[in-house]
Amino acid sequence: MTYDFDTPIEQRGTDSQRWQKYAGRDILPLWVADMDFRAAPEVIAALQERVAHGVFGYARPTAGQVDAVVAAFAARYGWRVDPAWLVWLPGLVVGLNVTARAFAEPGEPVLCTTPVYPPFMTAPVHQGREVVTVPLALDSAARRWEVDWDALERAVTPRTRLFFLCHPHNPVARVFRRAELERLAEFCLRHRLVLCSDEIHCDLVLDALPHFPSAALGGEIARRTITLMAPSKTYNLPGLGTSLAIIPDAGLRRRFVAATAGIVAEVNCLGYTACAAAYRDGERWRRALLDYLRGNRDFLGDFVARELPGVRLEAPIEATYLAWLNVAALGLQDPVRQFEDHGVGLSDGRHFGAPSGAYVRLNFGCPRAQLAEALARMKRAVAAVPRPA
Ligand SMILES: Cc1ncc(COP(=O)(O)O)c(C=O)c1O
Repeated sequence: MTYDFDTPIEQRGTDSQRWQKYAGRDILPLWVADMDFRAAPEVIAALQERVAHGVFGYARPTAGQVDAVVAAFAARYGWRVDPAWLVWLPGLVVGLNVTARAFAEPGEPVLCTTPVYPPFMTAPVHQGREVVTVPLALDSAARRWEVDWDALERAVTPRTRLFFLCHPHNPVARVFRRAELERLAEFCLRHRLVLCSDEIHCDLVLDALPHFPSAALGGEIARRTITLMAPSKTYNLPGLGTSLAIIPDAGLRRRFVAATAGIVAEVNCLGYTACAAAYRDGERWRRALLDYLRGNRDFLGDFVARELPGVRLEAPIEATYLAWLNVAALGLQDPVRQFEDHGVGLSDGRHFGAPSGAYVRLNFGCPRAQLAEALARMKRAVAAVPRPA
């Protein structure tokens, strides 16, 4: 079977958050991170069968559903996950909040690097904890975002409890290498931090690079790691709210589960069905998706380099369907507004911890023709920027 990622699917007038934002306006929404593609036919078929059953009571995953998930982790990353380590969650942002609540006391700091997916910075604050951010360093010669280890050492204090890692990284689209993870593990152990490794984008690695789960390092760091995973980004199922915390250490797991009590909803039966079908039967679709996204990424990279003066992609997009674009040279206070005025909706880099006017994030998880149209509109937006006299 071949899969069709080219035919547009009308989403105006539907429940799509991404499309609703610009309802009634001719703006292509390339902001929040879900894709414009229909889910894998294998997943849709499993959902149809589950819907036809017709009973939608409170759910728990079946042994077969759990097997589908742990078998995928073993096959893809050689990571042996005991089913007892799994804590199901209705979303990974929930997981970030629960982790902050469980492993830092009120007022204690949580450390993360920026730019980063905004809930990394807001979750600790929502839970009455503090957040301390350390900018990633751009090595322009190597075209690579790096952890600034010296800055990290300066930022950590005896009160710091947690490190939030985004791996692969949203928005800079890096896949951290094993040596970097080992260094981070050493840092966390030396400062007695719990490592929360958000790996939601791990099955969207576009280059020939392995994803190495932080907890697969094993030993002491595995016992101090909360891994957050979900099929939602890869298989375009985020609206079904089915995610996982994987916590090898029984003590940490108890604390995590205790912090969910009474406030975290259970996952629903359709979510379990879709999740298991995706991991069990969705591999051919995922590979086809990765090919398509690679094509979009390369098309975008060429267009930005050739047609968008003042816009720069500073490092290769190794994973995700997100492009982190430096637009500082345009000299705009509000670049998102400029692109919206020309028909493209992007995410403002400020929300990711970047300086005002410096970056926008573009979601290229859409049919290529739509991406081409968005880029043509961006070209007009750039051409319309007033030049200094
Ligand atoms: C790194 C990261 N974590 C979590 C999420 C969202 O997870 P959820 O929708 O399961 O809350 C996203 C969505 O873009 C993300 O990029």
